[in-house]
Amino acid sequence: MARLVTEWVNVTRDVSIIARESGEVWFHTPGGAKEKVDPFATPMTGVGAMGSTVGLLDAAINLGFAGIEKRLARPDPTIAGYIVALVGAYHTSVDTPRNLRRAASRFNELGRPEVAAYLEERAREETGHDRLALKDLRALGVPGERLVANFIPEGIKPLCKRFDDLCVQDYPIGCIGYSYCLERIAALKEATDIEKVRMLCPDGVDATRFLRSHSSLGSEASHVKETIEFVASLPANDRISVVQETYESALIMAEGYNHELLKSEAEMLEEIQQAIGEALPYNHGSVPSDIEERGARPVP
Ligand SMILES: [Fe+2]
Ligand SMILES: [Fe+2]
Repeated sequence: MARLVTEWVNVTRDVSIIARESGEVWFHTPGGAKEKVDPFATPMTGVGAMGSTVGLLDAAINLGFAGIEKRLARPDPTIAGYIVALVGAYHTSVDTPRNLRRAASRFNELGRPEVAAYLEERAREETGHDRLALKDLRALGVPGERLVANFIPEGIKPLCKRFDDLCVQDYPIGCIGYSYCLERIAALKEATDIEKVRMLCPDGVDATRFLRSHSSLGSEASHVKETIEFVASLPANDRISVVQETYESALIMAEGYNHELLKSEAEMLEEIQQAIGEALPYNHGSVPSDIEERGARPVP
């Protein structure tokens, strides 16, 4: 019987992640092994397997988010918070196809057509997702184009910058780790999460297009699976880089999302109103019933 694959990646000075194809995952302190020889002290060189690759990727996300665990904001959902989240969703989606194509063309130059083809496919799949967020904003009676043109939530800026930077690197493999982190977290959202948002919206308003698509109910779940398959097929040094970037992206996401979640509803309303230059058609959680009608008008 073939031996189970074991993969490992050092993600911080003190922590390596070790994952087995069978699904076991553990954290390891390099050099901390009692044995004279630490088998995980040198980078892995073997092949990957889906069971161990997903273990590394998800452990990297968990480790990145562990730092904010004690400070984790858990606000009650509000319409203002949802609007800010949609603005963030727009900004993390709008440049994705262009960025991925740029990274793809670099991999073509590098003689790695299989990585280029994967990234081009992802670019196609992600095209138009920014429009979903704009449609949701419009359905809520918010001038989406004006809002996103004038407002990038503070916690989202470092995320967008990270992805832009990764995609223009000489060897842009890290963009896969960033995308995995974002999509894996989105795919954790379930029907009940979507229902909670629906409850916030006025009757008959559908403002969950982006959320549905970026949840376990939409395409995100298959994007995550495809990425795991692809990463598992990469050579060891690429898998190491992808897992390391998944960890770095998770750190940035954890801080950024928490920064936004810690804001009060009044602060968020103020930011939104400043950006659109007018009062929202509702205040503090209440939404008038004619909002869908207004939202259905073309955005100026
Ligand atoms: Fe997307
Ligand atoms: Fe996606």
